[in-house]
Amino acid sequence: MSKIIVLMGAPGAGKGTQARLLQERLHLPQISTGDILRARAQQNDELAKEIQEVQAAGKLASDDLVGRVVRERTSQPDCQNGYVLDGFPRTIAQAEMLEDLAATQDERVRAIFIDVPFGILEKRIAGRLSCPICGEIYNIYFKPPKLKNSCDRHPDARLIQRVDDTPEKVQVRLETYNRETEPLLDYYQRTGRLHRVDGTRSPDEIYRDVERIVNAS
Ligand code: AP5
Ligand code: MG
Repeated sequence: MSKIIVLMGAPGAGKGTQARLLQERLHLPQISTGDILRARAQQNDELAKEIQEVQAAGKLASDDLVGRVVRERTSQPDCQNGYVLDGFPRTIAQAEMLEDLAATQDERVRAIFIDVPFGILEKRIAGRLSCPICGEIYNIYFKPPKLKNSCDRHPDARLIQRVDDTPEKVQVRLETYNRETEPLLDYYQRTGRLHRVDGTRSPDEIYRDVERIVNAS
């Protein structure tokens, strides 16, 4: 039986950073609902407009839409030996969808909570830039690119800042997280599937703990 790893944590906690390390080092595909929705929002139709509005406002997309996205993506062959969910589930309804999905796919769910105090999150988000080509995540304070504003792997690509990374939007995202997503910690705790890691350390130190949890039987 393979594993579904759920990376949990507030906006800016480092879910994407750790998911990308797991993908690179353990070959577990990263499934970021935020990234998938951002990519879908680039198309030119009604749904794209809806997603743009919801993401720009820092609110949540509907459980129905996100559930469909996750079901579709996790049915791809590369997910057969497990995968990492980054940003899903975010509501109790989504967690219940995941239980059904895990049962059908004969996989086991393990949740890892990257614990970072709110005071640190703001600076992480304010300094974030990412590559429009490969999605690599940088930070002007904590992980600057070698060349200012360019991706280390794609020097011609100008790094971009997310539209929801402004201080006002971050406030809404944190409130949404507290209200809708934080209760999930208790949900996984009660069923003995929650692992907490101290997210205030360096990405590599955090990753060592994350990998140990993923590899534990
Ligand atoms: P999403 O893209 O998932 O955003 P988020 O949850 O707000 O999380 P972030 O991506 O901002 O942070 P992260 O934890 O990935 O941190 P990162 O590794 O980048 O969702 C965006 C929107 O999409 C939502 O608001 C919603 O509208 C919609 N959506 C997505 N999923 C949904 C769902 N399931 N249901 C409904 N709607 C959904 O790190 C942050 C920064 O810190 C980076 O600059 C990084 O370099 C730096 N950093 C990382 N780790 C460290 C470290 N250890 N030390 C120092 N710096 C670090
Ligand atoms: Mg992310």
